[in-house]
Amino acid sequence: MNLKLDNRGICEVETGCLVIPFVEGGSLPDSVAAVDKAAGGAITSLLEDGDIAVKPGKTTLLHRIPGIAAERVLAVGMGKPEKLNLAKFDSACMAAAKVLRDHPVRNCHSSLHEVAVEGISTADLLRQSALALRHGNYLYTVTKQRKDDAPEPLKTASFAAGPEFRDAVDQADGIAAGFDKARMLGDLPPNICTPSYLAQDAAAIAQAYDNVELEVLEESDMANLGMDALLGVSRGSSLDAKLIVLKYMGAEADERPVALIGKGITFDSGGLSLKSGENMMQMKYDMCGAAGVIGAFVACAEMQLEINLLCIVAAVENMPDGDACRPGDVLTSMSGKTIEVLNTDAEGRLVLCDAITYSEKFDPQCVIDVATLTGACVVALGHHASGLMSNDDELAQALTEAGDAIVDRAWRLPIWDEYQAQLDSPFADMKNIGGMPAGVLTAGCFLSRFAEDLNWAHIDVAGSAWKWGSKDGATGRPVGLLAQFLLNRAG
Ligand code: BES
Ligand code: MN
Ligand code: ZN
Repeated sequence: MNLKLDNRGICEVETGCLVIPFVEGGSLPDSVAAVDKAAGGAITSLLEDGDIAVKPGKTTLLHRIPGIAAERVLAVGMGKPEKLNLAKFDSACMAAAKVLRDHPVRNCHSSLHEVAVEGISTADLLRQSALALRHGNYLYTVTKQRKDDAPEPLKTASFAAGPEFRDAVDQADGIAAGFDKARMLGDLPPNICTPSYLAQDAAAIAQAYDNVELEVLEESDMANLGMDALLGVSRGSSLDAKLIVLKYMGAEADERPVALIGKGITFDSGGLSLKSGENMMQMKYDMCGAAGVIGAFVACAEMQLEINLLCIVAAVENMPDGDACRPGDVLTSMSGKTIEVLNTDAEGRLVLCDAITYSEKFDPQCVIDVATLTGACVVALGHHASGLMSNDDELAQALTEAGDAIVDRAWRLPIWDEYQAQLDSPFADMKNIGGMPAGVLTAGCFLSRFAEDLNWAHIDVAGSAWKWGSKDGATGRPVGLLAQFLLNRAG
């Protein structure tokens, strides 16, 4: 879907649908007033009759409005202006995108960014609305055919603004490409999206950009490096694990890279600590951390940010065959630390700890790992916030602010030393589980032990990366948060 700028008078724009904002009370936004005037007051009379919903996120589709070139008008409620914030604006835009998606509209023209949101620039509102339209337009097609009578997705969205908003549109384009990549990878079934598939997909990404390189470590390479924590998980699967390293060079060669690390468990059966059928059903999504960092990498490459970026994906399948790791096994990680595996279903931390240790060789300025790590994170934060843990206050703040700025929010949780004791083991340097209390934090604590010498953060996306029990599937999060963080770092 194409994003464009078009600053002609809104009534002259020939489009399938004009998308315009309505607030409760106060005067009409300029674009709405212009439509109203051209239509001889039709909009104000509809408003007076209560036929246009103005509550936040409510939409009204109007046909045959006279005096304008557009075929339809989609009125988007934004609620009370003093209560409007970026998150509410985003939900309203998402609601609009859904309506457009469900109607035979091939192009639209939006002035949603015309509303005032305190502390947010018009450019940022425009970018957010463009992202929402792209989000609503995503359609999974790899293993399902579109029905002939299903409405086709949008081809073009234009925004009522001049060329000075080019950057906002370009950023939306780049970030949306990253979201699309992450969602598609997340939605693919686990018999297609295997560790090798992820490596092949990374190869295609490396092909597409001049300043991207790829290195893939095979199991033999990992064995030579002593990555027995990662390999311990992989042993139960007939598929070979891959450690995928994508390198983007957008700055001077001597500038330290940002390193993103993704949990790429392409299917999590639980291993010998087998999950129940109910809990296993959606475990193809257990590579959404990997999908998120790959998506953020694509966004960065699309925007050609002036930064050096690494994307390290630990792509492994967690299965229970005769060679599988047993509860009670002690594994020696690449760092030399030993781990008593008491539950083979706590596998994410086992693959990530070796990937974190491996990242040290690149002398990164910071390391951010992303993982669908714990069910406990979903209990704690639900589906709206990702769980953020870090050993550095500034990094934690930068990530939180980045998420807020693009409505891909994360909430910081504590990984105080007091929690570490839950990981004590009589037989190894640590156990891989910390018991029932604070399961999201003890997972973070486990990882922190491998990041002692790094400026490090961990983002648990178990609740945010896909919509549970819904046909919507992967959300692509935290591509937005990471892309915004990289934009800010690149300056
Ligand atoms: N992939 C799961 C976490 C998960 C659960 C993600 C539900 C999304 C939805 C992870 O590998 C796992 O199984 N974690 C266990 C850890 C426990 C054994 C300490 C969990 O959360 O139950
Ligand atoms: Mn698991
Ligand atoms: Zn898992």
